[in-house]
Amino acid sequence: MTTKPVFKNPRATHDFLGRSCSISGVGSYVPERILTNAELEKLVDTTDEWITSRTGIKERRIAAPDQYTSDLATAAAQRAMKNAGVTPEQIDLIIVATITPDMPFPATACLVQRKLGARRAAAFDLEAACSGFIYALEIGQQFIMSRTYDTVLVIGAEKLSSITDWQDRNTCVLFGDGAGAAILQNREGAHGLLTAVMGADGENSDLLSMAGGGSRCPATVESVNSRMHYLRMEGKETFKNAVQAMVTAAKEALRRCELDVSAIKCIIPHQANRRIIDAVGDRLGATPEQLFVNLEKYGNTSAASVAIALDEVVSSGRLQRGDLILLVVFGAGLTWGAAVIEW
Ligand code: UT7
Repeated sequence: MTTKPVFKNPRATHDFLGRSCSISGVGSYVPERILTNAELEKLVDTTDEWITSRTGIKERRIAAPDQYTSDLATAAAQRAMKNAGVTPEQIDLIIVATITPDMPFPATACLVQRKLGARRAAAFDLEAACSGFIYALEIGQQFIMSRTYDTVLVIGAEKLSSITDWQDRNTCVLFGDGAGAAILQNREGAHGLLTAVMGADGENSDLLSMAGGGSRCPATVESVNSRMHYLRMEGKETFKNAVQAMVTAAKEALRRCELDVSAIKCIIPHQANRRIIDAVGDRLGATPEQLFVNLEKYGNTSAASVAIALDEVVSSGRLQRGDLILLVVFGAGLTWGAAVIEW
């Protein structure tokens, strides 16, 4: 029996030309090691009070030295596959959204393919920073709707601790490691991604970046000594852009689905800063109960952020099939996005 959508959606994916794209399982993984604000007080000139009041973050997870982005991604993927009842042989495509690949090449997605034993799968990485998971969901869905593939594994995974400058108090208190994954499948009458808005603004690419390690500034003794292989952020400007872009993207996603924000069961914003989340919620007219927040436990995990949160929302049991979820993200690039999912 198929559930009748309760709203009109011009881009509805249900049974479109005989194809439906459903999220048939999600999963996540965070490393065991917890780094608390109290520990950071010993590392840089900061306080638990400052970090908590300015960001909402209390602790974050840090991967072991021999644990890489592909390991975090694989662990999350295995959980999503188990929840979806999907075997490695069924996977047609693996997309890994990350800014912290194991190495510049080959793609982390290929390393995940090997670790999963997903021999049939094509694999590539996608770089849209903290917005990567929504970009990857939309691209994965396009492959399914175009009849190219039937089963796509989408992962957001980061080992941000590997590009964090542990001497820079402006950034080192903000980030953490982790991964989240989703299985997209062509399933008759199923529900999934209803719409995805994606945007970018390269004019503001300098606000959040890592200058070293690419073709512009390959690794040299000088680049390492001048700490160019760590991420840098202009926090205040990034904050302002984040609020504006997330609100605009979320409103556009709702408009496309002809939905009022009150119809959304759960809003999952990128987990960068509690004050950004509250400002976005306010401007959308959302209630505090609608907003999902877990950044106190993990900090900002970039592409993994909303993927981990989606898994936590699903496993908390608060969703019924047919409930509507709004994901909204923002990151370096600048990039941003919003997606409406019918669960
Ligand atoms: O995921 C991608 C998107 N990322 C984001 O959206 C993050 C956006 N930005 C932010 O979340 C916030 O801007 C921060 C949390 C990074 C900073 O908060 P803020 O309220 O914008 O603070 P600020 O940068 O204006 O800094 C205020 C003061 C400064 O001191 P002075 O110049 O006023 O004396 C900083 O040096 O706080 C100081 N400060 C700190 N103090 C204690 C900066 N970091 C710290 C720290 N501990 N860790």
